[in-house]
Amino acid sequence: MQMQPIPAVKGDYHLEDYEKVVESFDWSQVEEQFSWYKTGKMNIAFEAIDRHALGVKKNQVALYYKDDTRREKYTFKEMMEQTNKAGNILKQQGVEKGDRVFIFMPRSPELYFCLLGAIKLGAIVGPLFEAFMEAAVFDRLNDSKAKVLITTPELVGRVAIDNLPNLEKVILVGNDIEEDHVTVDYYKSFEQASKKLLIEWVEPEDGMLLHYTSGSTGKPKGVLHVHNAMIQQYQTAKWVLDLKEDDVYWCTADPGWVTGTVYGIFGPWLHGASNVVRGGRFNPEDWYKTIEDYGVTVWYSAPTAFRMLMGIGEDLIQRFDLTSLRHILSVGEPLNPEVVKWGVKVFHLRIHDTWWMTETGSMMICNYPTLAIKPGSMGKPIPGIEAAIIDDQGNVLPPNRMGNLALKKGWPSMMRSIWNNPQKYQEYFTDNGWYISGDSAYMDEEGYFWFQGRIDDVINTSGERVGPFEVESKLVEHPAIAEAGVIGIPDPVRGTIIKAFISLREGFDASDELKEEIRLFVKKELSAHATPRQIEFRDKLPKTRSGKIMRRVLKAWELDLPTGDLSTMED
Ligand code: WT7
Repeated sequence: MQMQPIPAVKGDYHLEDYEKVVESFDWSQVEEQFSWYKTGKMNIAFEAIDRHALGVKKNQVALYYKDDTRREKYTFKEMMEQTNKAGNILKQQGVEKGDRVFIFMPRSPELYFCLLGAIKLGAIVGPLFEAFMEAAVFDRLNDSKAKVLITTPELVGRVAIDNLPNLEKVILVGNDIEEDHVTVDYYKSFEQASKKLLIEWVEPEDGMLLHYTSGSTGKPKGVLHVHNAMIQQYQTAKWVLDLKEDDVYWCTADPGWVTGTVYGIFGPWLHGASNVVRGGRFNPEDWYKTIEDYGVTVWYSAPTAFRMLMGIGEDLIQRFDLTSLRHILSVGEPLNPEVVKWGVKVFHLRIHDTWWMTETGSMMICNYPTLAIKPGSMGKPIPGIEAAIIDDQGNVLPPNRMGNLALKKGWPSMMRSIWNNPQKYQEYFTDNGWYISGDSAYMDEEGYFWFQGRIDDVINTSGERVGPFEVESKLVEHPAIAEAGVIGIPDPVRGTIIKAFISLREGFDASDELKEEIRLFVKKELSAHATPRQIEFRDKLPKTRSGKIMRRVLKAWELDLPTGDLSTMED
């Protein structure tokens, strides 16, 4: 049974009358907010940092950073100088407009300086999550032909520099760096770098951000975003995050994922908000402490984190003063109604679900402070966005019918290409102008959207997207493995976990030791989050006559569902 809707709480919000704004809104109305509207000179890093540094906000804290060993803060003016310095380091190393600069390191102030510094030069930044291992790192640097990589001495061992002919420089952020013809000592260059930088002015359609993400087939795809995306990043941060002048905002995502760049960097800073970044792993006590210490007012996190906090119980919460919080949001996977209920109980606030994806470049379907929340629903489309449920022929379906969640092509933050792969890009769109998300959903009579699942085989584990093909390909590189099929299975905390069905080569015996060895193999080469938590050995895997592993059948076995049409299965 569905939970009762939770009414909006009266207050002063940016998006007051949703229905009215939906009727009259046009994206061109947002342009006046930016300095390029008057000057004609565009760069998203200028709008996010320098614009505030050169105005009344210059002494306001832009970045509060903390981890186990560091605690620092930077005003907008200091951020301007630090990002200029980082930009100058990159410039010295030959970075020019359009070059791909990759950043592979744990969260630290330097990560943020370098990311924005690179964008100031007009370069395209590729952020890589620190958990990626050799093969995952190689695929991304190789596909994008990255010219410069910024990483740490701890992580550089995972980069096969000699096999990456386009990689000219590796900038190491750490101590005791020995420089050579490739390696550059970040701190040494930083000391000497000028605080002044000539920003590269770009066109709205020039690239700025390249996030690799997984599909159900093939290697990860490089999703390219352009400077013009700022229009929607700004406007969603206004309507949905409801950011105001004096907000202290905390987005828990790492910039290796799109949430960590779009709403961990651009959304808040385009508004001149104070932005909290906490480095290190999830830690319930320290999370609550972060809210208390900084007086966080707006908090954007993920269902998997909320579920873990919920599981720990309320005694812990009682030890902290969390009354600064005024607005909480969630993204990445379905937000369970129980979690919404828990939020109301312990924070006395509604948790607002938001739906979007790497490819959409910013929020698309959301719950707004002024709308009633139907727990379990993702909410309604952003004004200016047309969302619909369509069938496989591209026809729009009436309310309450399940189908493909689709978006009318052409919103400001839409990805502009898949790097190196125009055909993959085309596959996202129907002939009649819809972008197909890959999610299934339905819309109710009141226009609320309800997520149902993925249509393809993409796995969403703890809010992180994993392509089964990538894991299967890695598995079959293991000497003991003949074939592998990878699926997601439900898990109460992680949403979904990865399970691998494996058939062994002649001469290898199934054992728990072998399972562990296989798990370690994937963990070491791909990443911890792509590692199958469960492994099951089978003599044979279900395949089509053309040899494709039928994940659908594996899923049916696992979940005791009907296997459906087996006419294409080999004997
Ligand atoms: C996929 C996109 C950009 C956000 C981080 C994930 C799933 C995302 C929700 C939600 C149910 C959600 C979808 C989507 N997803 N938000 N609110 N409710 N599912 O970005 O890695 O590109 O993954 O995450 O399946 O297609 P991503």
